[in-house]
Amino acid sequence: MKTISDILPFFLSELQVFYRENEIKSFAYISIKHILNMSKSDTIIHSKKILEEDQILRIKSSISSLKEYEPIQYIFKETEFYKREFYCMYGALIPRPETEELVDWIIRDNKETKKNYLDVGTGSGCIIISLCNNLKGNFTGIDVSRDALRVAISNNDRNETNVNFECVDVLNYEEDFSVSNLNDKYDVIVSNPPYVLNSEKEQMQKNVLDWEPHIALFVEDDDSFIFYNRIADRASKILNKKGLLYFEINERFGKEIIELLEKKGFVNIELKKDINDKDRMIKAMWK
Ligand SMILES: C[S@@+](CC[C@H](N)C(=O)[O-])C[C@H]1O[C@@H](n2cnc3c(N)ncnc32)[C@H](O)[C@@H]1O
Repeated sequence: MKTISDILPFFLSELQVFYRENEIKSFAYISIKHILNMSKSDTIIHSKKILEEDQILRIKSSISSLKEYEPIQYIFKETEFYKREFYCMYGALIPRPETEELVDWIIRDNKETKKNYLDVGTGSGCIIISLCNNLKGNFTGIDVSRDALRVAISNNDRNETNVNFECVDVLNYEEDFSVSNLNDKYDVIVSNPPYVLNSEKEQMQKNVLDWEPHIALFVEDDDSFIFYNRIADRASKILNKKGLLYFEINERFGKEIIELLEKKGFVNIELKKDINDKDRMIKAMWK
């Protein structure tokens, strides 16, 4: 590998047994963007440019990490979410495109007035920071993981947003009134909680299973709605009248989560599909 035109063939030959061709091309261009600060079209214009020694080393190092199935977002420590850049570090889930769809739904519904927003299981902070970037009001994100909260706080600084983050275990806070954010009143509560069943682990890709925090992903098969139950219970106490609860869900359980919300007294429940036609989001109103 000597010139820029050699990079893509090098990626393809090194990674062909690990990934599909389209994925490898995408990894190559993301790596070029981060290491050479060049776009795909720059690589054509400057195809004969000689690579520097440290650039070759960094390309080889990113390929070694990809061979370990490390997600490209962790390798370069960032990703784009809802048109903004976010830090991606171990300990916080990598923001997903389907979650952008949830954010888009919330933004379109809540444009008009100033509201109080709470994000439960905030992870990298991608949801609540994007809401804060696009809506008026007060914004709070809570998570049990201090590692995730560190990433969220860095993302809050990076995006120059004003979100308040707190460490709270939504399953075990009980009625502890020192946990003020679960006693304040909100107009909108959102959560993308852990919802992958332990039994679904086997079907998951190595890049997720070996690298992303399991606390962000998995629930026990025999208590798969634990987060939806607890969050909906708490939401029924702390949502204002006509307040909205939004959930991202496991595509298999739309019907069950609608029933769960109906039983708890939520109304106007809407289930929405993601871009891949899978049941992925739910909205419900507190009467
Ligand atoms: C699916 S991730 C969502 C992260 C982020 N909101 C997103 O959409 O990318 C679920 C999050 O819930 C957090 N979490 C897991 N158990 C929790 C608990 N008992 N209390 C609060 N947060 C919890 C995890 O640390 C993780 O950040």
